[in-house]
Amino acid sequence: MSYVVVTFVVLLILNIYCSRTSQKLFYQSKSVSMIEKCQLASDEIAALDVMNPSTVGQIVGQMDSLKITRLIVTDQSGCVLYDSSGQTLGTYALFPEILWALDTGSGSRVGNDVFTWKYHDGAMDSRAATPIVYYGTVVGCVYMTEYDTAQGALIESLQSNVLWITLVLEVVVILFSLAYSNTFSRRINRIMASMRTIQEGDYTHKLDMDGNDELAVLGKEFNDLTDRLQTSEQKRSRFVSDASHELKTPLASIKLLTDSILQYDMDQQTLREFVADIGNEADRLNRMTEKLLSLTRAEGVSSDECEIIRMAPTVQRVARMLRQNAINAGVTIHLDLKEDAPVLILEDDLYQIVFNLMENGIKYNVSGGTLTVRLRREEDNAVLEVQDTGTGIPEEALDHVFERFYRVDKARSRATGGSGLGLAIVRTIVQRNRGEIRIASQLNRGTTFTVLFPAFDTEVDAN
Ligand SMILES: Nc1ncnc2c1ncn2[C@@H]1O[C@H](COP(=O)(O)OP(=O)(O)OP(=O)(O)O)[C@@H](O)[C@H]1O
Ligand SMILES: [Mg+2]
Repeated sequence: MSYVVVTFVVLLILNIYCSRTSQKLFYQSKSVSMIEKCQLASDEIAALDVMNPSTVGQIVGQMDSLKITRLIVTDQSGCVLYDSSGQTLGTYALFPEILWALDTGSGSRVGNDVFTWKYHDGAMDSRAATPIVYYGTVVGCVYMTEYDTAQGALIESLQSNVLWITLVLEVVVILFSLAYSNTFSRRINRIMASMRTIQEGDYTHKLDMDGNDELAVLGKEFNDLTDRLQTSEQKRSRFVSDASHELKTPLASIKLLTDSILQYDMDQQTLREFVADIGNEADRLNRMTEKLLSLTRAEGVSSDECEIIRMAPTVQRVARMLRQNAINAGVTIHLDLKEDAPVLILEDDLYQIVFNLMENGIKYNVSGGTLTVRLRREEDNAVLEVQDTGTGIPEEALDHVFERFYRVDKARSRATGGSGLGLAIVRTIVQRNRGEIRIASQLNRGTTFTVLFPAFDTEVDAN
């Protein structure tokens, strides 16, 4: 509708403009030719010694090349000296054109050249009048009329042609708009239908939008978006099912233990052991929910509040925290923190990384083993290296250790209270801080985790 209205208005304006311009062109050419003819007659008459009906009639008779419909000559008072139709001879011709041509009172001392024009019934009705000037004085007036049907027909055919062209163009525009809007609406409807399908939860749906225009690009973007939605939906449901599965195990143990306590008579000592086991399972649940919370936080929080910090103090703090664990496991901790470099990170994030890696290095170590934490520079990177002499990780498991809830040896991890979330948290935080984590391991010889962050040397940057 908009297309049709806009083009209709434009075509209407063009139509009016064309018809006005053509009329104006005819008017101009006509006015010049008629006034020239009048002036020619005026000059001839002005040259007469005496101006009376007979002398004027005689001179006009000689000018039969004028080809006009009617010619009237008056004296300065408007009294007709000659009329080609003979109707007004001797009377006063009070046509407006004659009065205006003879008018010397309105600023002009020598009268006015007048041309008027009317277009009706397919004919051009033109009238012109010029004063007859004799030595600077108006002594009469020549008035001509011309009723021209040939030029009128020309204007009429021009106007009707333009009108026809306009109508044909408008019909073409309407047909084109209908066809275009039809295709456009059909394609938009397909997008809407796809959106509804996605809204209903079918993320496998694909929108098939052919062509190379903006709608095709929109269709491609739409498909990319649903792909991402599908991936994140899959991740979410896997996470929920993994998490509930993990939480189910300690809950089932608690249930078993409480059932046993209720069903069997047991001595004080056994009862205490059962209750202690319930406590341990509850602790495990607690640890797991805490880790789940940290993971959700690590995935959601943006690193806007980062600060430039050195890594050594955090490593020392974690080492102090884990000292008792290391003693219990018979593991010696070595710290080599000389090549410390500033990095842009949240202190809490760095603590989580170091804690999880060092905790693993102790947990999956052997009695009498060592855990070495090293800080060093590697080109533009600040590197944190956590190396243990523990059990190592089998090669096929290396790709999976960063997945949520993944544990190489489920039984051993459960015994050590592991939930399989530590490394998932570490990787999320490292990536969020524009870092990179690498892993190298040899079975029964040990594992090395290497974390790289862009070094943030403010002194160097300031220069
Ligand atoms: N230094 C290491 N040496 C040997 N195996 C390791 C080491 N670090 C991690 N792993 C293996 O990778 C698995 C995943 O580690 P991750 O830290 O994510 O979980 P977790 O230690 O079991 O539990 P959590 O850290 O959540 O308490 C562990 O279960 C373990 O099998
Ligand atoms: Mg761990």
